[in-house]
Amino acid sequence: MRPRLGRVLLFFALFALSNKHRMTNMSEIIDGNAISKAIEQELAGELSGLNMPRRPCVAFIRVGEDPASVSYVKKKGRVAGEIGIESRLHVLPESVSQQELNSLIDTLNADDNVDAILIQAPLPPHLNERDTFNRVRADKDVDGFSNANLGFLCQEDSRAFVACTPAGIIELLKRSGVETKGRKAVVVGRSLIVGKPMALLLMKKGIDATVCVCHSKSQDMKAICSQADILIAAVGRPMTITADMVKEGACVIDVGINRVPSDKTKSGYRLVGDVDFENVAPKCSKITPVPGGVGPMTVAMLMHNTLAAYKRHMNLL
Ligand code: GUN
Repeated sequence: MRPRLGRVLLFFALFALSNKHRMTNMSEIIDGNAISKAIEQELAGELSGLNMPRRPCVAFIRVGEDPASVSYVKKKGRVAGEIGIESRLHVLPESVSQQELNSLIDTLNADDNVDAILIQAPLPPHLNERDTFNRVRADKDVDGFSNANLGFLCQEDSRAFVACTPAGIIELLKRSGVETKGRKAVVVGRSLIVGKPMALLLMKKGIDATVCVCHSKSQDMKAICSQADILIAAVGRPMTITADMVKEGACVIDVGINRVPSDKTKSGYRLVGDVDFENVAPKCSKITPVPGGVGPMTVAMLMHNTLAAYKRHMNLL
C-alpha cells in the first residue's frame, strides 16, 4: 500500500512540475513563443502610452522569392502590425543590380518617416552583403549588421543596435533564469548574423560569460562543446550537436532553422534545428525547441530595436 502511495504522490509532483515548465526527461523546454509574446505585449503597451503624432515605421527590403525569406518577412510585418508599428515592404527582383538596391537604401535612409530598415538576408550572390548592410544609416540599422553598429557593440557603446537573434538569445537566457556570469559559453558558428555578435554579447560586461567560438575548421569540437555550461548552435546544419558533445546539465540554445523533407506535412517539409533534440534534451537543464525557441525571439527583438530607433528619432531617449 505505502509504495503505491509514494508512486501516486511522485506522479502528482511530476505532473505539477510539468505544468509549470514543459519538461523532457529532465530538461526544461525554453518557450520562445511565450517569451516573445510577453515582450511584444510589453512593447505594444509602451508604444500605446507614447501618444506621438506618427507611428514607428520599419521598411523591409526583400530581394527575390526565396520561400524562407518570404515567410520570415511576412511574419515580421504581421507582428509589427500587432504591436502598432507600421511596415512597408519593398520587393526587388532577384536580378536587381547593386546600384538599384543602393538607391532604394539611400531613399529610405533619407525618409524622415522611416525609422528602421531591414534587408532580409541572404542576398543573391551577385550582391555584396557587407556593402549593402554598411549602406544603411546606423540609426536605422535595426539589424545591427553595419560596421558602425558592430563597432558600437564591440566598444560596449549604448548606441549599438544589437543583431536581433543574439539579442533574443540573451533575453531568453535572462527570462529563463540562466546564469551567465563566469559560465563557459561555447558558440558554434561564426556568422555575421549570429555567431560573431553572439560572442561579443556574451562577453559584454554584465553578461560576463567566458566565451569560445567554434567553426568548421575547429579541431576536436566535441571536447570544446562538452565543457560548455551554455552551448549555442548556429551552424545551419541538422544534427550538428549530438548528445556526446553536451555536458550533463548544460543549457542548449538551438539557432538552426533547417527545412528537411517530410511526407507528413502539407508543405512537404518540416523544420529542425542544428541539435539532435531527442537525444540531447534528456542531458541538459534547459533547451530551446525548433520551431518555437529562438525564431520568434528574433522577431520580438526586431520590434524592440524598431521602437528604440523611433524613440531616438522622436527625441524620446
Ligand atoms: N536572415 C536570417 N536572419 C536574419 C536577420 O536577423 N536579419 C536579416 N536581415 N536577415 C536574416
